[in-house]
Amino acid sequence: MSNKYLWWQRGIIYQVYPRSFMDGYGDGIGDLRGVAARLDYLQWLGVDAIWISPFYQSPMADFGYDVSDYKGIHPMFGTDEDFDDLISKAHEREIRVILDFVPNHTSEEHPWFVESRSSRGNPKRDWYLWADPAPDGGPPNNWLSVFGGGAWEWDEATEQYYYHAYLKEQPDLNWRKPEVQKEMLDTMRFWLDRGVDGLRVDVIWHMIKDDQLRDNPPNPDHEPSMSPFESLLPVYTTDRPEVHDVVAMMRGVLDEYDERMMIGEMYLPTERLVTYYGKNGEGVHMPHNLQLIVMPWDARRIAATIDTYEGALPPGAWPNWVLGNHDKPRLATRVGPGQARVAAVLLLTLRGTPTLYYGDEIGMHAVDIPPDKVQDPWEKNVPGLGLGRDPSRTPMQWDGTPNAGFCPADVEPWLPVADDYEENNVQAESEDPESMLSLYRRLISLRRDEPALAVGSYAPVVTPGDLLAYVRENDGRKFLIVLNLGHEAQTFDPDERVFRGRVILGTHLDRDGEALAGALSVRGDEGLVVELTS
Ligand code: NOJ
Repeated sequence: MSNKYLWWQRGIIYQVYPRSFMDGYGDGIGDLRGVAARLDYLQWLGVDAIWISPFYQSPMADFGYDVSDYKGIHPMFGTDEDFDDLISKAHEREIRVILDFVPNHTSEEHPWFVESRSSRGNPKRDWYLWADPAPDGGPPNNWLSVFGGGAWEWDEATEQYYYHAYLKEQPDLNWRKPEVQKEMLDTMRFWLDRGVDGLRVDVIWHMIKDDQLRDNPPNPDHEPSMSPFESLLPVYTTDRPEVHDVVAMMRGVLDEYDERMMIGEMYLPTERLVTYYGKNGEGVHMPHNLQLIVMPWDARRIAATIDTYEGALPPGAWPNWVLGNHDKPRLATRVGPGQARVAAVLLLTLRGTPTLYYGDEIGMHAVDIPPDKVQDPWEKNVPGLGLGRDPSRTPMQWDGTPNAGFCPADVEPWLPVADDYEENNVQAESEDPESMLSLYRRLISLRRDEPALAVGSYAPVVTPGDLLAYVRENDGRKFLIVLNLGHEAQTFDPDERVFRGRVILGTHLDRDGEALAGALSVRGDEGLVVELTS
């Protein structure tokens, strides 16, 4: 494949949620040793990189997104040796490793915060965001926590409030402070020196808040079914202009190394998201494009989103697409099992680096979590709105043995295993050519073999109704992708041009090799990749 493109542009990223991927220590919780043990599977699947959610020292109030030591590994996830072993085994298989970096906030148990809250005069006091009460004695302003309730926590001992965008156990760092910048940039170097190939930066658009602490305005479109956090528009707490200076500092660190990369997590509209590519190569390599996760599954809306995104990318910016992650409902539940296959074709044929979420490749669905088994603090804080993330974080289903091969049969996994694990697992699906896993594997293999699909141009084809179609092309090789995002049969017969070629891959095996000369009938829940001859 063309060397013009870097590994993270040509490649496919696979997100591992380490608590749930594979238990290597036999305690019911996944760990780094478990990830290393499953690298052969990831190589067989054909992915180029793994992004591993946090495994740092942490009291686990937010399952590792509350870090108490950025350079230490939580014993539950393994040792330094386990980490080094994972990196070297991954690299032997040409699989890159992307670390989840959590710079916006620490744990309240981080020694910096322990010092910061110890007294107003402590030298680390302003490493965090402290403020006096409002004149009425209440919080300094109306800012809300994403996880429910106010974002200011009162500290009785020092009689000030501190800001936390997420849990009160996750105080936000003050990224305007040069000492904080230095410590955190050095932390990035620490992991880059240890061999990580990239960083996924948690909530990068939150990193700077308004220094005048202005109130956020009300959201006129808020409805009771939405999260309480969304009752305000977070204009003074997120996506502040000065955040780009911080991003540029972080980018500067990556540029000290060869071919390392940075993904920024952000839920922002396209026109804001693309600003994070930065000017003159000073931004993140890929602002994570999470639009397909949050938007309705509708062909016309998705077509418009792709075109808007493609049109908004600044020169040289590399696109990317994501269909699932550890924070949002499982793809197969959100769009249904038939459409989950169509979604796989979409993700792996769009222009831009795909990120797969563990288990989506075997069609894992949301698992009902009984009330006494709920783990996620978000569900505990704001129950009943479907915000809880446990259903998307259940153990990977490896085989049909008890606990799906995730952990020993006599150990209770940290979250329940899906009921259908006996049929729906890696081993069973790898033996079934019609399974979701076989579809993913064929798609990944085709994308790896055909530069047109990995790095080629993208051109939309105008289609009505539930159909979505586009052409990918590179160096004279052309592919037409036709996806039916509905459940009823449709005819693809565009006015603009007569396509000729043959089907080389589809959601259903029976179309392989079928000739196309003009119109094409597409069944409900069907997606086709056609190699074009004209
Ligand atoms: C985004 C992460 O993806 C999520 O899991 C976490 O709870 C918040 N950031 C806070 O770190």
